Amino acid sequence: MPKIRSILNPRFPTRAWVSKILCLTILLAFWGIGPGFAQSVIPLVTAANPDQGKQIALVCQACHSLKPNEPHKVGPNLWNILNASQASRSGFAYSPAFQKLTGVWDFDTLDQFLTNPANYVEGTKMVFPGIADSTDRAHLLAYLNQLSDNPVVFSKSEKVMPLPASQSGATTAFGDDWPSGPGSTMTGYACSACHSLAIVKQQGLTRADWDELLDWMVDEQGMDVLPTDQRTQVLNYLSQHFNVP
Ligand code: HEC
Ligand code: HEC
Repeated sequence: MPKIRSILNPRFPTRAWVSKILCLTILLAFWGIGPGFAQSVIPLVTAANPDQGKQIALVCQACHSLKPNEPHKVGPNLWNILNASQASRSGFAYSPAFQKLTGVWDFDTLDQFLTNPANYVEGTKMVFPGIADSTDRAHLLAYLNQLSDNPVVFSKSEKVMPLPASQSGATTAFGDDWPSGPGSTMTGYACSACHSLAIVKQQGLTRADWDELLDWMVDEQGMDVLPTDQRTQVLNYLSQHFNVP
């Protein structure tokens, strides 16, 4: 019985055992501390710009109302969403997958969810691929924080992390052939809410026709009315890049 003998052996723990226990301890330490190393998104949000987040939120408005007391749309109303319990809006029929959530929407859980909703909640009925660019998500979170009776105020001592340049301004978020420049991000998010941008790219229209098309998109296709300044920027962008040949 070699095993028992080795335990009874006065020289136990042997060197082999010491190294095994050491390995295990190191492994456990990593396992325990590991998640603590995961970086919080808060330093990025502190440096982010809510106005840019507002442009990105155009894509959310296809399915969510954002003002206080507005009725739910395809998705629940998002006023006061930060620090709210997950799946807790009254009068909204959540999917069975969502009903199982018991956490809180803080900056980090929102960041994870919005990176890829179906990854965070398998079986969610939020049919949205997510926002891959971490800088865009930080801007969006800074804006969501403002949709609140009690926005989080970041203290001056809060660590601020330099924000890497948004990739979407440089076209990657919408594909290489989505022209960059003023209005690019806003138009990309606003027009990809319901259909592929290919539909937009294949059109060449005069400014007046784009104007009319935007009316049609609102009146007939359920697009939200854009605030005047945003509408002007979208129109400028469309007529600059997708004009009649
Ligand atoms: C195509 C429609 C659609 C789009 C676009 C969309 N959502 Fe949603 N969203 C939903 C639906 C539907 C749910 C409910 C999910 C469920 O019950 O599975 C939801 C749920 C949520 C929740 C959880 C709310 C709660 O009460 O727990 C948050 C937060 C959210 N969406 C944020 C966003 C943001 C921010 C955007 C834009 C970047 C966005 N959504 C874009 C449809 C959408
Ligand atoms: C709320 C949903 C929604 C939004 C947001 C939206 N569209 Fe559309 N759009 C539609 C639908 C629905 C159609 C018609 C269905 C189809 O042809 O696939 C359409 C069709 C189009 C067409 C083709 C028109 C034609 O003659 O066939 C163009 C061009 C277009 N959209 C441009 C845009 C632009 C530009 C934006 C952003 C400013 C935008 N859409 C935002 C729903 C939307």
